[in-house]
Amino acid sequence: MSKIQINKDLSSVKALLGNDAFVIMDNNLKHLCRYFDGCRIIGIETGEQKKCMESVLPIIERLLDEGADRGSFILGVGGGITTDIAGFVASIYKRGVRFAFLPTTLLAQADASIGGKNGVNFEAYKNIIGTITQPEWIYICAEVLRTLPAPQFRAGIAEVLKTFVLFDAAAYGEAVDYFTGLNGFFKERGTLCDGAELYGEERLQLLVSKCAEYKSGVVERDAFERGERRMLNLGHTFAHAIEKVCADDENFAPIMHGEAVAIGMVLAAKVAAKLLGLSNGFAGRLEADLSGVGLPVGLPCNIKSGKAVEMDMLLDALKKDKKVAGNSIHFILPKDLQDVCDMLIPIKELEEICRDLR
Ligand SMILES: NC(=O)c1ccc[n+]([C@@H]2O[C@H](COP(=O)([O-])OP(=O)(O)OC[C@H]3O[C@@H](n4cnc5c(N)ncnc54)[C@H](O)[C@@H]3O)[C@@H](O)[C@H]2O)c1
Repeated sequence: MSKIQINKDLSSVKALLGNDAFVIMDNNLKHLCRYFDGCRIIGIETGEQKKCMESVLPIIERLLDEGADRGSFILGVGGGITTDIAGFVASIYKRGVRFAFLPTTLLAQADASIGGKNGVNFEAYKNIIGTITQPEWIYICAEVLRTLPAPQFRAGIAEVLKTFVLFDAAAYGEAVDYFTGLNGFFKERGTLCDGAELYGEERLQLLVSKCAEYKSGVVERDAFERGERRMLNLGHTFAHAIEKVCADDENFAPIMHGEAVAIGMVLAAKVAAKLLGLSNGFAGRLEADLSGVGLPVGLPCNIKSGKAVEMDMLLDALKKDKKVAGNSIHFILPKDLQDVCDMLIPIKELEEICRDLR
């Protein structure tokens, strides 16, 4: 299982690599090269369209040219695109070499770098080619987030809050408090940094480390998503449908995954309340908290008409989700903090509930 290495700075990362290391690094992170003196660095371009086999093959060619063998070690340095690609390369090169990650986006630190899902897209299919192979370790360090643009940072917040909704009510409260403060700070100063450091960097480091530990624990118990790991899909069924609608229709602005997850979590809480006959209290709290940290909570609007995505469009996209089983769909329903269930809901029933959602 992967070890979560929690560190205040990057000074100890190189010592973990050994003598035969290759660093696959996002080209936007050249300022981090100085921490990898003497290592062979393979720079890659990122972007969802670059997460494909056409990016994988030149890396393999370079590894061959440089004499990488089964004893070599690969470190992926970057956001989720880089860790997905680097992990995939490492798990197929010469049938697999040892590897680890230094995630540099909040989304990658809290989610993408943990769990061993590596892979690339093919044509319109996301993450359709890949492996489940665990990295040896994941180096979590808040300092690397200092250069992350605010929208990218914000997109990671939804995954952090999702994890705490599932596993830790106290940490959820602490995270909402911290990220709300960060949002206020950003609105006032136009930056996430307070001097050289991120606003409340130590608090952030603690929150991200805790979140990473939770995800790592789930993966250790259920690497192949047969039970508990499915809970991590909270908010994602609606999120994937929202992302699909926005991507397929130019009348909608592109939406980031983390933003779609925020909207998806609120919708899932509303469905839970309706389906299970609960009050809307938790959905209301979630909506207020996510909005307070700067995430969207309402369905995206058509740029021309100003109208929100129609529920029918969303339901059409949702029916194509891989969690559909026959006429039903696996759905993660949050009733309250640390009170979430995995239900198989008949699609007809879900349609009726969704059409009524406010
Ligand atoms: N494997 C998994 O379990 C898993 C889980 C969730 C998401 N993902 C994948 O993660 C990808 C998205 O990851 P992401 O949001 O981290 O995107 P990303 O890797 O594209 O990074 C976002 C942007 O930030 C830049 N960047 C990264 N770190 C930076 C830093 N410290 N300073 C300045 N700029 C920096 C990158 O160059 C890029 O432009 C998706 O492809 C998604 O499918 C995988």
